[in-house]
Amino acid sequence: MEQSNTAQRTDADRVGSERDQEEAVRRALEAYYRAGEPPWDTGVTPPELVALVEGHGAPPPGRALELGCGTGTNAVYLARHGWEVVAVDLIDRAVEQARAKAAAAGTAVRLLCGDATRLDDLDVPGPFDLFFDLSCYCGIPPHRRDAYAAGLTHRAAPGARLLMFGYGPEAFDDPISGVTADELRARFAGWDLVDTTPGTNPVPTFWFGLRRRPDSMRKGGTP
Ligand SMILES: C[S@@+](CC[C@H](N)C(=O)[O-])C[C@H]1O[C@@H](n2cnc3c(N)ncnc32)[C@H](O)[C@@H]1O
Repeated sequence: MEQSNTAQRTDADRVGSERDQEEAVRRALEAYYRAGEPPWDTGVTPPELVALVEGHGAPPPGRALELGCGTGTNAVYLARHGWEVVAVDLIDRAVEQARAKAAAAGTAVRLLCGDATRLDDLDVPGPFDLFFDLSCYCGIPPHRRDAYAAGLTHRAAPGARLLMFGYGPEAFDDPISGVTADELRARFAGWDLVDTTPGTNPVPTFWFGLRRRPDSMRKGGTP
């Protein structure tokens, strides 16, 4: 009995500290948007996404889901290039700005305020042919990352692509942020990491390309 009480306390402590981590991340992000013009909000679509969408061997436009879309620059870019886009961000202020940007551009992007690690709470059934994540995943606390990967995997069309930009762990002072190729390989079961290209930032950054294995869908559509 003594032991089980201790185990319950330990479990409750862990859940409490995980919630604190999520809350701390949310508060920090909210503060950036409240202050106006967060440093990442350049309004420029990265050449890596342009190459995928417009470059040699570009896939035909299909359905795309952007995770952590911020003020919507890239969701609007995708929609302008014929993609049917759903884009999600945790911070309502960012989503409001993204909606205004999409409306001004005359594009029909579905912009949702929500958690990329809790897609089941949102109306985003998929399947999607393309997932795009520009430095969202690398800031997600580790205990939510399996749920992020599962959410994408369940919504991925066979052969779907995930293009992700992320900062390496060395780029952060805290011990929970950052992403590595090894981590993605381990966490995204049923996907192949087909490309890892270092970014040009002064701190370690990477562009990762992942591909959902076409043969990893079971009969009935369950991954
Ligand atoms: C570094 S910013 C990049 C924003 C945008 N991709 C861009 O490049 O302008 C990370 C974004 O991810 C969002 N974000 C972080 N965690 C999230 C989560 N769990 N679910 C949805 N969005 C999240 C943040 O609110 C923020 O807008």
